[in-house]
Amino acid sequence: MCGIVAAAASKNIVPVLVEGLKRLEYRGYDSAGLAVISAAGIERVRSVGRVAELETASASTRSVTGIAHTRWATHGVPSERNAHPHVSGSIAVVHNGIIENYESLRNELSARGHVFTSDTDTESIAHLIEATLQTAPDLFAAVRLACRRLVGAYAIAVIDHQQPGKVIVAREGSPLLLGLSDTGNYAASDASALLQVTRNMVYLENGDIAELTAAGVKITRLDGTPVDRPVHVSQLSAAAVELGNYQHYMQKEIFEQPEALANTLEIVGGSKTIQPGIFGAEAANLLADVDAILILACGTSSHSGYTARYWLEAIAGVPCNVEIASEYRYRTSVPNPKQLIVAISQSGETADTLAALRHAKRLGQNKTLALCNVPESAIVRECVLRFITRAGPEIGVASTKAFTTQLAALFLLTLVMAKVKQKLGPAQESAYIDQLRHLPVAVNKVLELESDIKVWAQRFADKHHALFLGRGRHYPIALEGALKLKEISYIHAEAYPAGELKHGPLALVDADMPVISIAPNDQLLDKLKSNLKEVQARGGELYVFADADSEIAASEGVHVLRLPEHYGELSPILHVVPLQLLSYHVALVKGTDVDKPRNLAKSVTVE
Ligand code: G6P
Repeated sequence: MCGIVAAAASKNIVPVLVEGLKRLEYRGYDSAGLAVISAAGIERVRSVGRVAELETASASTRSVTGIAHTRWATHGVPSERNAHPHVSGSIAVVHNGIIENYESLRNELSARGHVFTSDTDTESIAHLIEATLQTAPDLFAAVRLACRRLVGAYAIAVIDHQQPGKVIVAREGSPLLLGLSDTGNYAASDASALLQVTRNMVYLENGDIAELTAAGVKITRLDGTPVDRPVHVSQLSAAAVELGNYQHYMQKEIFEQPEALANTLEIVGGSKTIQPGIFGAEAANLLADVDAILILACGTSSHSGYTARYWLEAIAGVPCNVEIASEYRYRTSVPNPKQLIVAISQSGETADTLAALRHAKRLGQNKTLALCNVPESAIVRECVLRFITRAGPEIGVASTKAFTTQLAALFLLTLVMAKVKQKLGPAQESAYIDQLRHLPVAVNKVLELESDIKVWAQRFADKHHALFLGRGRHYPIALEGALKLKEISYIHAEAYPAGELKHGPLALVDADMPVISIAPNDQLLDKLKSNLKEVQARGGELYVFADADSEIAASEGVHVLRLPEHYGELSPILHVVPLQLLSYHVALVKGTDVDKPRNLAKSVTVE
């Protein structure tokens, strides 16, 4: 939610700010703004809508020092007056996060004569810093002291036109890193925004504050103690965040799945066995004492968790529960200190997942595993064990390659748990590993169904509702298919375990309600076929994703596409791919903004 870029350099930084915001647009895109220090004071440009509008509006702006922001509204509607930066006197501030005590700060500062012009929580930070500056020796000290009064989550960047040439940044709970170069120093919410100027990144810790000038950076804790943070040379390739020949990031990311899976599974190498150590040095000891698993996640990441539950109980014999993080964190639950807490998150910064993890730990459950795509993220840092999926940067708001790589990682966890619990013989282990290794090739073949799926997509464009059906380990895939369709095409979609059809949703079925069914050739196929007959008998139009050898024939009102091979336990990883393609092509037909669907954001760092 919200992206920040800041720069203090020896050259004009406006193009860097704008280009950085474009890279961060996935974090929020309802309005954007920038503020720079010019001879006349703070020069601020803000616009509702996309960064492209801001680029036009700021075409004539020049400066060597500035801050910029792309917004996902929390407090106050998307409008120019609520867009960041917010200004108080000579100060301008951009902010990502939520200030929980903003109302009391606003009341206090209003009583002292500060005039507020927006509905945001952020504006109270600007006024607080300006007020603190009256008695502080300089901007760095004022921001440091002001931050100590903030309750909530923030990453902020601040400039003061009376102290030109410097930017102060600070973080608590929201991501922020610095980029160092010979011609200037920068800060941003993630590395992709700064690859245009440097690969040398410094990740700030919670409670860090930094001063950037063209010549260098100074970092301290909020109590003023100086700290050194290591410089990481980012391995992220610039191409990884470029669109290349693709029309959308979602399309690019769907087609990157074979490579993303190959990278994620590289850890297994040429070996016939798999060791607990892939989850961290302490894994062997820690997992030996685990008697249950609790998976915490949100959105698409929760669907990978639901799928893994089928694997973990069937193959490893370990009881497994999956909970939506925002539910778990607020309910009274019965803790089990021997339970492994698995936090799944693409970004590693989703506020509810992080809070649920902390809640689980507060309850004395300290066996924790992070399964994330961002190595330096908060969730990774707060878990004992970790597995980093190597999907590469995922920019499209609707998650695709992050999901399939999570599934691959969760299958590895299943195999490790099965070994620890002595449920897995060497022959079976080696057979599963071979299957994993073949996955990229298998997914590639599934992607070849695209032209058939495009034809199907045409028929969905005028529909308002759709039903997704699956059974067993493919029920969570139905959930994911329905989520994808609603996220990017705005068609209302629901998923049901096929056996539940007659307990309610069958009442909705008519010729206007397409029913998408996942029908792999597994032990539930015959049961599923009976459910599909129930739909057919009510005049429903069926779209069936079967396997090459699933005995389901196309007929009047029954459309069938076959995946090239049947993939046993790992079949969910293949079967989700045509559902991603279907929603992508339906969205194209409908003309929606595929990568930036309305009202959504990629990284949900607020509750
Ligand atoms: C948002 C995104 C989803 C994502 C969910 C959880 O809703 O739009 O694509 O699945 O957050 O994000 P996480 O980074 O924790 O996986």
